[in-house]
Amino acid sequence: MSVTAQKLVVALLSLALVAALVAAGSVDARRQAEARKHAEAMLDDAAQPQIARGRAVYTKYSCNACHAAGGTGGIMNLNAESGGKVNGLLHLSESYRPAELAEKIRNGVPTVGKGDPTGPDPPLHMPPYRDLIAGQEMRDLVAYLMSLRPPPGEAKSSAW
Ligand code: HEC
Repeated sequence: MSVTAQKLVVALLSLALVAALVAAGSVDARRQAEARKHAEAMLDDAAQPQIARGRAVYTKYSCNACHAAGGTGGIMNLNAESGGKVNGLLHLSESYRPAELAEKIRNGVPTVGKGDPTGPDPPLHMPPYRDLIAGQEMRDLVAYLMSLRPPPGEAKSSAW
C-alpha cells in the first residue's frame, strides 16, 4: 500500500470512530430525554395528595441536589462504586419496605464505596435526616419514593 493510501485508510478509520462516538452520544441524550419525560409524567400522575406532598418534602430537604428531580440520579460522585455517580431512586419499591426506607433516610449513607479502591473517597455521601424529617413528612416522603418507577423498558435492577 502506498503512503497516500495508508493515510487515507487512517483518515477513514478516524472518521468512522468520530461518527460512532457522535451516534453513541445522541443515543445517550435521547435516553436521558425519555427518562426525563417519564419522570415528568410520573409527577403528573402524582395527583394523589400524599404523593404530591411527598414530592414537596423531597425538594424541601434538597434530596434532588444529589438524586436529581424525580429521583433519576446521575449527579457526579467521583470514584463512587455506583459508576462515579449518585444512584437514582427509581427501584426502591423493589427492595425496600416502607419502614426500612424511612430508617435508611434517618441514617443516611455515611460511607460510599469506592469504584477504584486505590482512588480518592467519593466526595458526596448522604447526611442523616434523623433530626429533620419525621411524622407526617416522613410518611409522605416514603409514599412518594415508593411510587417512583423506572422508565418503561428499562431493565430491573434486582435479579429475579
Ligand atoms: C449530599 C448528597 C445527598 C443528599 C442531599 C441525599 N442523598 Fe440519598 N444518597 C446519597 C448517596 C451518595 C447515597 C449512596 C450511594 C448511592 O446510592 O449512589 C444515597 C443513598 C440513598 C438511598 C439508598 C438508595 C438505595 O438504592 O439503596 C436512599 C433511599 C436515599 N439516598 C434517599 C434520599 C432522600 C429521600 C434524600 C432527601 C431527604 C436524600 N437521599 C438526600 C447522596 C445524597
